[in-house]
Amino acid sequence: MTTLIINIKELLQVRETSVSKVSGAEMAILPTIKNAYLLIQDDLIAGFGSMDNLAQIKADEVIDATGKIVLPTWCDSHTHIVYAGNREQEFVDRINGMTYEEIANRGGGILNSAKKLNESTEEEIYEQSKSRLEEVMRLGTGAVEIKSGYGLTVDGELKMLRVIKKLSENYPITIKATFLGAHAFPLKYKEDRKGYIDEILNEMLPEIAKNKLADYIDVFCETGYFTVAEMEEIMAAGISFGLKPKIHVNQFNSIGGIQSGIKHHALSVDHLEVMNTEDIMALKNTETMPVALPSCSYFLSIPYTPAREMIAAGLPLALATDYNPGSTPSGNMNFVVATACIKMKMTPEEAINAATINGAYAMGVSETLGSITVGKKANLIVTKTIPSYYQLPYAFGSNLIETVIIEGKIIA
Ligand code: NIG
Ligand code: FE
Repeated sequence: MTTLIINIKELLQVRETSVSKVSGAEMAILPTIKNAYLLIQDDLIAGFGSMDNLAQIKADEVIDATGKIVLPTWCDSHTHIVYAGNREQEFVDRINGMTYEEIANRGGGILNSAKKLNESTEEEIYEQSKSRLEEVMRLGTGAVEIKSGYGLTVDGELKMLRVIKKLSENYPITIKATFLGAHAFPLKYKEDRKGYIDEILNEMLPEIAKNKLADYIDVFCETGYFTVAEMEEIMAAGISFGLKPKIHVNQFNSIGGIQSGIKHHALSVDHLEVMNTEDIMALKNTETMPVALPSCSYFLSIPYTPAREMIAAGLPLALATDYNPGSTPSGNMNFVVATACIKMKMTPEEAINAATINGAYAMGVSETLGSITVGKKANLIVTKTIPSYYQLPYAFGSNLIETVIIEGKIIA
């Protein structure tokens, strides 16, 4: 099956030779072809170029993209979309003056979601999560990382990871699974932190590895959650089971999590709302991708990741949603890209690089996704008729996507 897209006003993120990420100064450059075509064969990109060079190609289907922009789908490298119920009440409590921390301290927050998850059946969780997955696919996401972390019990964590596995079996979108048993200490272990860590190390991890339920290991390293030393022990155990770290650090406090993640060859360090100079310097010339989650900053009214300082220091940056019931009940990558431009002063080129190729790197899929490259998956966004790609962040509240193609097929 071949599909030919013709008369594309501008084809974005064109990489003749595959790159795994773009760093520092390269972030500002978004390679494009104006008046372009793109050929899809089965599930892959088979060719592209200027319309001037389009030879007679016979295709099973032709899409005329006159006036429209085509770009790779978003790679959302950090989400928690498998969860039960919602936390609307906490949202209203925060409007009325309580802080995220106060809510967590009264047993709300992550523990509230864990209670709901453990009270729900696997089928119920699957049904709720699948509608979120379908929603983000329609919004142009073509690869998504999903974390566990609302079980906090052996059964609950395994249940979440099985739901993630089932989603990846039933949907064409690329999914990576991350084990986040170290998301919070369950009430039962409040006074016995070692007891819970032992459960993660000795009961959860072996079972997860045996059933191949996760690709990565995550820890919420933060004051009131897991210390750097605790995270190190958990990362080391994860690594011994073949799980590379991808960690939550520097959301509210800078406590050395970044340095520790780098030491353990973390694929990414995520959140980074609170960054000091040492944190930025530590990331220079490493293989660890910094990931910003601007929708979380927006929803919680906390600082935004200092993108300008980081890019000026030569760092790459990825953007992701953090879709979860507590701090970011939105999986809209278009909003993330717009917010990165509006609030973090990233240029449209930087934000698109951060949400495609660097997002792909941050979830370990840049060999197959994240750019328009022959041989990569045909996961594409076709926009509506728009004046230029600046419109994507500029018209921040509009849905500018006309068609989403995943593995060569238009999704409904
Ligand atoms: O990435 N910060 C830790 N975890 C999630 C939020 C968890 C929650 O509130 O449910 C996050 O923001
Ligand atoms: Fe998160």
